[in-house]
Amino acid sequence: MISDELIQVMQTAQTVVVLTGAGVSAESGVPTFRDALTGLWENFDPAQLATPEAFQANPKLVWDWYASRREMLADVTPNAGHYALAELEQRYPYFYLITQNVDSLHQVAGNKSVIELHGNLQRVCCFNKLHVAENWDDSDGVPNCQQCGAMLRPDVVWFGEMLPEDAIDTAFAVSKSADVFISIGTSAEVQPAASLPVHALRGGATFIEINPHPTMLTNRADFVLPYPSGEVLPELVAALNLRR
Ligand code: APR
Repeated sequence: MISDELIQVMQTAQTVVVLTGAGVSAESGVPTFRDALTGLWENFDPAQLATPEAFQANPKLVWDWYASRREMLADVTPNAGHYALAELEQRYPYFYLITQNVDSLHQVAGNKSVIELHGNLQRVCCFNKLHVAENWDDSDGVPNCQQCGAMLRPDVVWFGEMLPEDAIDTAFAVSKSADVFISIGTSAEVQPAASLPVHALRGGATFIEINPHPTMLTNRADFVLPYPSGEVLPELVAALNLRR
């Protein structure tokens, strides 16, 4: 599954940058974003739910969708792939984990240097993202911010919204400095995250893709591991430990 050449590259790297997408949480039972609308939500288009316009048009529908995803996360735990990434972080002087996921599973698994490009489902803030809300009561519909009165919303990045500036600036800066860039469990369909691997390649990085299915970036990868991340990441860490 893991070639000696790939191990050699990982052993000599000093700066390792990882980009994760929904696929890294799939083996924890978290549906990938586009599959998330199974069951109760199967008749809705995520892009029609995850937009400021959708929220303003139907705040309760959007609030309830995110509340159901938050409730689902309460029973979810990191999988072997998450834990392997936490172990990998310990091996390198410079390790950065950039995630598009909003499920906190990387932090729960132990990763310290997590750059959240799309926010975090566990955080709630007011509509203009001025105040974070620690608690709220949504028994009477969408709650309001106790500081400014605006409606509360999930602290995630919706389609059409800007990404957190510090997160995306840091993501591009560290990608440019990467010796190795590993893209895991992302369809690489959403910008600007999908540009990070290309940015890393321009900086001279070796590009590794872990995804059971090909993506638009597969033909740019130096190494392709077409396996579930929960299987191949522990194998990678075990192979590196053997060669300490
Ligand atoms: N291991 C690795 N990859 C997997 C696994 C797995 N076990 N299972 C599925 N995948 C891959 C799929 O092949 C797919 O390419 O994970 C990818 C998930 O793609 P998307 O559902 O498009 O999720 P993501 O790439 O994270 O989407 C990016 O777009 O929908 C918005 O804001 C949302 O953050 C999300 C962003």
